[in-house]
Amino acid sequence: MNRLEDFFYNQPHRICQKWKHYFPIYERFFSKFQNKPDFKILEIGVSQGGSLDMWRNYFGDQALIVGIDVTEHCKTFETGNTKVRIGSQQDPEFLKSVIDEFGDFDVILDDGGHMMEQQITSFLSLYAHVKFGGFYVVEDCHTSYQEQFGGGIRKPDSFIELAKRKIDELNGLHVQGYHREFNTDFTRTTLGMSFYDSVVVFEKGEVAPIESVQAGS
Ligand SMILES: C[S@@+](CC[C@H](N)C(=O)[O-])C[C@H]1O[C@@H](n2cnc3c(N)ncnc32)[C@H](O)[C@@H]1O
Repeated sequence: MNRLEDFFYNQPHRICQKWKHYFPIYERFFSKFQNKPDFKILEIGVSQGGSLDMWRNYFGDQALIVGIDVTEHCKTFETGNTKVRIGSQQDPEFLKSVIDEFGDFDVILDDGGHMMEQQITSFLSLYAHVKFGGFYVVEDCHTSYQEQFGGGIRKPDSFIELAKRKIDELNGLHVQGYHREFNTDFTRTTLGMSFYDSVVVFEKGEVAPIESVQAGS
């Protein structure tokens, strides 16, 4: 059991709802940020405040934790350097106002409404605002396979299909011919993508010039 699971199951906090297999994923990518003084995380989807408690315990007292939600009641969870802003993740102007107020984040985690348009609008609006060395994480991507969320297998406008297309941009430097549209800001600022059951993690960083090297006799 990692620290997050220990807190989730064994310590007092407000209600938090996650899938069990997410905890090792968080640990894999987020552990380097624990107790880092200038760390900033934006979580889309506050609900009953439990995940704000979990992140506070995990990242430490000095972390800036920002939650956004459409539900006004979530504002009551704001305290100290845990901030809550009310608005829709589907509203680029609202998302811009959050970035204008808090600047770029080390981690942006989408655990909001999980509708295709919401996940896609948030990703397209916010990915540029993840710091190098940080991560953009989209949870509950199983909704990409579910009609009630606007998904469906291989549906071109699902979030998971967008993520699959981003693999071509990740490899954009190698696309031959006149397909320069694959060599994008995403190509230049994404070190990797990790796919798990229901979760996609984008690793942000400055991509060094690629070179093929050989050594050994
Ligand atoms: C799955 S819950 C969040 C759970 C919370 N992160 C946790 O771990 O306990 C999803 C939340 O997203 C919020 N939500 C739904 N649509 C939204 C939207 N368009 N913009 C922002 N938040 C939204 C809901 O109000 C709800 O509180």
